[in-house]
Amino acid sequence: VLVDGIASRSCLLLAVQVDGCEIRTVEGLADPAGTLNPLQAAFSTHHGLQCGFCTPGILATATEALERGEITSRAAIVDLLSGHLCRCTGYVGIIEAIADAAGLPPESERAL
Ligand code: FES
Repeated sequence: VLVDGIASRSCLLLAVQVDGCEIRTVEGLADPAGTLNPLQAAFSTHHGLQCGFCTPGILATATEALERGEITSRAAIVDLLSGHLCRCTGYVGIIEAIADAAGLPPESERAL
């Protein structure tokens, strides 16, 4: 979850610790009509998830980094993901989705 815009592990927080804070869950990233935000849409486009177990944490972490303007390269994305484990995707789709949401050029264009 995002606590006042900071990605946080909800399982390690007591409710009293976040009293008065703004809490955004992954469900809250989409607009009220259910339209995915650009990061969520990029995960769909780039097949950034399979079982989805890791996805909420990665979306929260990436959202914080995107809002802070910290995604300037794929190396920054790899560093950002260092605390996350995904047993399904091999990370390629996740990295490309975050890169897309950050406005980085597609991996295929980087080699040209
Ligand atoms: Fe299954 Fe990441 S999509 S663990």
